[in-house]
Amino acid sequence: MIGPLNHVGIAVPDINKAIAFYRDVLGATDITEPKPLPPQGVSYAFVNLPSGQVELIEPYGDSSPITRFLEKNPKGGQHHICFEVEDIHAASMAMAERGMRVLNEPRIGAHGTPVVFLHPGDAGGVLIELMESAAH
Ligand code: CO
Repeated sequence: MIGPLNHVGIAVPDINKAIAFYRDVLGATDITEPKPLPPQGVSYAFVNLPSGQVELIEPYGDSSPITRFLEKNPKGGQHHICFEVEDIHAASMAMAERGMRVLNEPRIGAHGTPVVFLHPGDAGGVLIELMESAAH
């Protein structure tokens, strides 16, 4: 069912500091400019690597879903992992049929394709994002 690992999502309190860390300390050379994604309540930037991406996410707006995560993890931390699927609606229905709590209706994510999130309580403690592949 799941396809490639697309990205690892890292919640950060300050996205510009996080970008500076990935660029100046880790030496990443391809990092996108931060952009707000109001429907998701985050600003994001991608660290592009040959094997995939790290998605840096900072709270955006008053009711960001990552505010509580950052209260518990003030320095930031690994927030979710994202797998690609061919068809987000089919994947979402299959997950629900297998007893997973699907946390949202498919909505457009940072890559411009629809995404859903699966409850970490049903997934070994990991918040999983499923993202429809761009090619679909
Ligand atoms: Co993500």
